[in-house]
Amino acid sequence: MDNYYFSLLDNNVKVTARQLAEDPDYFVNLAKGQKPKVLWIGCADSRLPANEITGTRQGEIFVHRNIANMVVHSDMNMLSVLDYAVNVLKVDHIIVCGHYGCGGIAAAMSNKQFGLIDNWLRHIKDVYRLYKEELDDIEDEEARLCRFVEVNVIEQVFDVCKTSIVQNAWKERKGPYVHGWVYDIGTGLIKDLEATVRLDSDLTQIFHFQNLLISTTGTLE
Ligand code: CO
Repeated sequence: MDNYYFSLLDNNVKVTARQLAEDPDYFVNLAKGQKPKVLWIGCADSRLPANEITGTRQGEIFVHRNIANMVVHSDMNMLSVLDYAVNVLKVDHIIVCGHYGCGGIAAAMSNKQFGLIDNWLRHIKDVYRLYKEELDDIEDEEARLCRFVEVNVIEQVFDVCKTSIVQNAWKERKGPYVHGWVYDIGTGLIKDLEATVRLDSDLTQIFHFQNLLISTTGTLE
């Protein structure tokens, strides 16, 4: 086994000792439970750890990450995280955070085959189709990729809002806010796309859900 592997375990002991020196009750309190105010949906890229980027600590952000920070409505993993965050943890904010130079977005913009992942990239290619006119007009490939990253985040914000999970929460408690951010790995700074949604009215009518009605026979009405 290589030294790097063992260094991870050593680091854990050191970090824990440092935290205990600062606050002897740190882990006692942490073990009592979590009450994060934020659900983070980010890219799996190793350069985007939610806590480090936002200067937050353990227990503050509930996290879901996948390639290119996608909100795919048949993804049971994402839906379970979203449902738990909204209905149990009752987070106030959902942040979809993409990043410039995203490999997943770049791959989706190309015509190359990458294997199994092509099926995941399809969801991103669908976003390109929605913004084709605007994106095709950008001649510089780097600039087009940056814009594709941004519009993909905006679409994922809408995809969060289209879920019955979020719409029911809005009816019940006028929250959570759903935000779109892009992280610039080159500067370390976050760009707020100002695409925040908290109301049905910002969504196209076709995506509005009425209250779920179930009759006594158990069938949908
Ligand atoms: Co990425």
